[in-house]
Amino acid sequence: MNRRMLVAGNWKMYTTSGEGALLIEDLAPLVDGFWDDVEIAVCPPFTGLKAASTVIELDHLTLSLGAQDVHWEAEGAFTGAIAPRMLADLRCDYVIVGHSERREYFGDTNETVNKKVRATFDAGMVPIMCCGETLATREAMETDSFVRAQVMEGAAGLSAEEAATLVIAYEPIWAIGTGRTPTPEAANDVCRSIRATIGAMYGPPAAKACRILYGGSVKPENAAMFFSEPDIDGALVGGAALKADSFADIAKAAR
Ligand code: PGA
Repeated sequence: MNRRMLVAGNWKMYTTSGEGALLIEDLAPLVDGFWDDVEIAVCPPFTGLKAASTVIELDHLTLSLGAQDVHWEAEGAFTGAIAPRMLADLRCDYVIVGHSERREYFGDTNETVNKKVRATFDAGMVPIMCCGETLATREAMETDSFVRAQVMEGAAGLSAEEAATLVIAYEPIWAIGTGRTPTPEAANDVCRSIRATIGAMYGPPAAKACRILYGGSVKPENAAMFFSEPDIDGALVGGAALKADSFADIAKAAR
């Protein structure tokens, strides 16, 4: 099965809605014609989703749109939170769920990640579920069991069809924003193990179909090395997604 490459830009808390719209307008001509080979997604902060969605629609751009988090309840008295259908209403295709920054600073756990994954699917969107180990876990040689547990708990309770469309981003925490990365082979080893975990949970077709991204200091200079690995189906990009040319160069490497 040919999995379509996905390069997703996580803009974190960096862009106003106007800056985000400009970034999309700068990006669009640089990635024109890429769509058949690689899916490109942008994930602005909540406040930038409406403007991004409007630019994508008015300019007829073949860019996918993602949010960076979601609440798991359909609605309710949750001041400051955003419900899944609010994101679907803005034509979001994806929701990043369980990013390590959400886990570290906002208390996300495998259990709440699982609820968010469920809620995202229920609203007709696809989760980009993040996992990845700390440096201490890596040095203790416990990466594999740690990440497997994150996947087993975070992706529990899906149908095989949902699991086949799920996107998982493997992001070693020590590689995020640091300029350090695992070797492509080491990243692929973890991605292969994630795929095997999905296979054990939901069967070989789901494992073959689900897309697994690498994330953590992906740059134009190193992207191709990761993309040449068999179990890496694209990237979740932070810092290098904030500049149109570097993000386009990463997408180019995925073609
Ligand atoms: P980075 O961030 O590319 O800046 O390392 C990746 C991420 O946090 O998704």
